[in-house]
Amino acid sequence: MLSNLAVRDIETLVHPYTNLATHREVGPLVLESGKGVYVYDTAGKEYIEGMAGLWCTSLGYSNQELIETATEQMKKLPFTHIFGGRSHDPAIELAEKLKEIAPVPISKVFYGASGSDANDTQVKIVWYMNNALGRPQKKKIISRLKGYHGVTVASASLTGLPNNHIDFDLPLPGIMHTSCPHHYRFAEPGESEQDFSSRLAAELEDMILREGPDTVAAFIAEPVMGAGGAILPPDGYFEKINAILAKYDILFISDEVITGFGRTGNMFGTTTYGMKADTISLAKQITSAYFPLSAVMLSEQVYEVLVDQSRKIGVFGHGNTYAGHPVGCAIAVKTLEIYQREKIVDHVRKVSPTFVKRLEKLGEHPLVGEARGVGLIGGVELVKDKQTKAPFEAKKGVGAKSVVFAQEEGLITRAMGDRVAFCPPLIITEAEIEEMFDRYERALNKTLDWAKAQGLLAA
Ligand SMILES: Cc1ncc(COP(=O)(O)O)c(C=O)c1O
Repeated sequence: MLSNLAVRDIETLVHPYTNLATHREVGPLVLESGKGVYVYDTAGKEYIEGMAGLWCTSLGYSNQELIETATEQMKKLPFTHIFGGRSHDPAIELAEKLKEIAPVPISKVFYGASGSDANDTQVKIVWYMNNALGRPQKKKIISRLKGYHGVTVASASLTGLPNNHIDFDLPLPGIMHTSCPHHYRFAEPGESEQDFSSRLAAELEDMILREGPDTVAAFIAEPVMGAGGAILPPDGYFEKINAILAKYDILFISDEVITGFGRTGNMFGTTTYGMKADTISLAKQITSAYFPLSAVMLSEQVYEVLVDQSRKIGVFGHGNTYAGHPVGCAIAVKTLEIYQREKIVDHVRKVSPTFVKRLEKLGEHPLVGEARGVGLIGGVELVKDKQTKAPFEAKKGVGAKSVVFAQEEGLITRAMGDRVAFCPPLIITEAEIEEMFDRYERALNKTLDWAKAQGLLAA
């Protein structure tokens, strides 16, 4: 029986990333409150938020300091924009703080309201800059299959997932995708991680040469692929990619929308994986998701070009109403202060071994082909046959089924096909990590029984 709220939801909402047909029958999970790493639905049932919402609620659900900061800023100045040279203290302070902690030399910060619009800004700046530099043919951008960069026309084009392209007439011309660096799924039999990385770097170089290096402007990558399935890069991957990009004067955009602010055990994933990024996209954990805010960190070289263009054109014609929203910036400043004061990176490093150990232990389960994590992010891949790595038929929805069972057990996680991700709030304790995986193990056992009953397992 669907609740009254569920019925009203079905009659009124189009949900993002939802099977809209199935939703009409099963209805929503309606959450009502949160505390620490826990959220509660309208019936009072408790769940561990194993995905930190959408990889974002780093400080959990009841941070009083963030709530008070938001309230104070709301009372003082709930809105002012930063168009036409206007400014305010929180926007300036946040930019200073971001410059201080940036993993590569950064000159300036440009604000937005979502990860998608940050990556949209990246694309526009790449095009604008190359026109300004008198090389209008250098415009192509290379992304990766299974990369996730958002849903606007340009950022969905960068995204390398079929559901973001099919029937949306995307990707845009000039945006192309190279192979996904997922060793477990795409390496040749017996190929080492280093050899796999070398092969992918050579493939990227071939693509650049085929397209013409003077036509390729930028390459974009997430340090750890998130929505593509929580996929860690293989050994040596970014080192080899750095070299190819430098060889052909190709700008490296690091999409830190998920990995920024401690997720991988360093303040930035760019550092964890030695990425020689020129520019960086940030969002989500920048405010612990208490306010929609994103930022693009720009190098001096890129900034100088933008300034020259303003001399020529008269204005930098880009930006949205909520860019640098004072409430968002004030929350972000406080969030960064808490990260520093509470030594959040040290905390992630302290609890990460428990997280990774319990995650890898899932690899012993008959349904799990791969289980891998770093810091406090990771994923498992459910397979039909562990020996051959044969996947289940996609439409059987085995990953999704395990997430339904997890929900029954009091755990929220997310399936991307048959890959299931874990990305809890960064404040999670070791005991809560143990509890999270205990709940998922029970869910996996139920999934195994269900898969057997359905006759889905290899004979
Ligand atoms: C790596 C990455 N980039 C960009 C985005 C898009 O961010 P948003 O959903 O805020 O537009 C996401 C969202 O999950 C992401 O994971």
